[in-house]
Amino acid sequence: MNTREMFAKAIKGGYAIPAFNFNNMEQLQAIIKAAAETKSPVILQVSKGARNYANQTLLRYMAQGAVEYAKELGWEHPQICLHLDHGDSFELCKSCVDFGFSSVMIDASSLPYEENIALTKKVVDYAHQYDVTVEAELGVLAGVEDEVSAAVSHYTKPEEVVDFATRTGCDSLAISIGTSHGAYKFTPEQCTRDPKTGRLVPPPLAFDVLDAIMEQLPGFPIVLHGSSSVPQEYVDMINQYGGKLPDAVGIPEEQLRKAAKSAVCKINIDSDSRLAFTAAVRKVFAEKPGEFDPRKYCGPARDLMTELYKHKIINVLGSDGKAE
Ligand code: 13P
Repeated sequence: MNTREMFAKAIKGGYAIPAFNFNNMEQLQAIIKAAAETKSPVILQVSKGARNYANQTLLRYMAQGAVEYAKELGWEHPQICLHLDHGDSFELCKSCVDFGFSSVMIDASSLPYEENIALTKKVVDYAHQYDVTVEAELGVLAGVEDEVSAAVSHYTKPEEVVDFATRTGCDSLAISIGTSHGAYKFTPEQCTRDPKTGRLVPPPLAFDVLDAIMEQLPGFPIVLHGSSSVPQEYVDMINQYGGKLPDAVGIPEEQLRKAAKSAVCKINIDSDSRLAFTAAVRKVFAEKPGEFDPRKYCGPARDLMTELYKHKIINVLGSDGKAE
């Protein structure tokens, strides 16, 4: 299904739909198992990189298979959307629409404003003919690479959102309020340190910008990218078993919980699943160096990811029970 009804219900109900990225079978199994067991609507996201890694035909049929798998698990009416994450050209978006995706993102946020509008509108005009919903992006996600900490100019400008949404006809809008992609969302210089634990404490998200956007566009579906919380137990496990992830830090879950209750109705999570996968695999490798059957380390990785996805659905996004 596309995202239209999912988002309308999520905004009304004060929760957010999980958007989990996948590029392999174990991730997909874990996502579907978690969604089926909690009866949560779910967005399966495929990035350009995932398409290149896993092959687009295979991913498409995996997603189709996932719907059947969900039913086998006892979820009578699965609510699953197949979404292109960060499409960067009309051609890529068109190819996903033609391929049966139910939703696409055109991310032209790095282009000048008018060019962002023109490209987004072109994608919307094409996708809507097939009832495929379109997510667009306005503002640039702050990142560690940016060097500039919390620069206001990187945030979405609330004064632009009405013009952008009206002229493009997009169905949802990804905004920038201080999140970023990856497991290093803030430099140590941008954070403070908890004196007791020595852990980094990140700066808060710009909820004032979110509020201003919601005031301009009441009831319009807002999307948060870069919303992994980088669970410290996975970072610790990775480091304990031979990995090296110093000072990895994400978005605290209570801030995501707060966002989910607002017009933010899609929250993107990818890195947390990568961390869970890696932590579980490293543990098996460290504890059982003689193991060479991939099922013996991918299996535990899948279990840990399932646990993670369920936790996000129930304790962070509040989407459990919304797709009975
Ligand atoms: P994370 O890296 O925080 O998981 O963000 C994923 C994302 O936004 C995909 O578009």
